[in-house]
Amino acid sequence: MWEYTDKVKEHFFNPRNVGEIENPDGVGEVGSLACGDALKLTFKLDKNGKICDAKFKTFGCASAIATSSVLTEMIKGKTVDEAARVTNRDIADYLGGLPEQKMHCSVMGREALEAAIENYRTGGKKKHELEGNVVCTCFGVTDREIERVIRENNLTTVEDVTNYCKAGGGCGGCRGEIEKIIEKMQADKMKGAPVLVPPKAGKLTNIRKIQLIQQTVNEQIRPALRAHGGNIELIDVEGDKVIVAFRGMCAQCRLTEFTMKDVVEAKLREFVSEQLFVEEDTESAQEPHEHRE
Ligand code: FES
Repeated sequence: MWEYTDKVKEHFFNPRNVGEIENPDGVGEVGSLACGDALKLTFKLDKNGKICDAKFKTFGCASAIATSSVLTEMIKGKTVDEAARVTNRDIADYLGGLPEQKMHCSVMGREALEAAIENYRTGGKKKHELEGNVVCTCFGVTDREIERVIRENNLTTVEDVTNYCKAGGGCGGCRGEIEKIIEKMQADKMKGAPVLVPPKAGKLTNIRKIQLIQQTVNEQIRPALRAHGGNIELIDVEGDKVIVAFRGMCAQCRLTEFTMKDVVEAKLREFVSEQLFVEEDTESAQEPHEHRE
């Protein structure tokens, strides 16, 4: 059972831009049928260098179809440089979120886009090649790709990595290696991470307060929630009131009241200000939608 947003369902049932452009300016092919997902993206530029048409063909689940469909919509009207800045997180956000176990579909979309742009920039000569050393032979995922999904999505567990790029989801033989990559990246991050210093009372400007709240959410709260398939979004700060929305598993969890007070509020009071209190933004909370694939 997967939870899908209305937008995912809409693009799954009515995918846009299905097919292949004749004489495209860029072609990107990623994945393989053996791995269960494959995507071919083609685009065409107008005389001003903007993407005027984009089409896709995909083999995969509802999420793969929906992410490919929105990707073609997202890049139309953009220059190649602008399109190159689209991340897998942008694709998932555009859909109002994806189940954690399906985030690899957004990564496949971003990879296909990069491959198509690379193909365009090399005058159609170059096809996408894997960079780095293959860590997961079941799904052909390299250390460079694993590091990238960890970095761009703040991943903290092997399970997260499997959700985002499939590595580790087959025979499991590479899970130890993935664990080592995560540990190394976390150690590197700790070395370079600025230390959160609780501010002195009365010295906090509004801007500094909001920065500290965001930093605390990113570094102290989100990793713990993500380890359980959940997430949190900072919606607003009104004086001492911090408004947050829970995502993923947390959005349906009956213990969110506990999480909000004993985890979120406690951390914000520890690292930002004793005066802060937290409320959940019920308006932007995702409605649970369920769909059986
Ligand atoms: S080698 Fe990665 S799951 Fe089999």
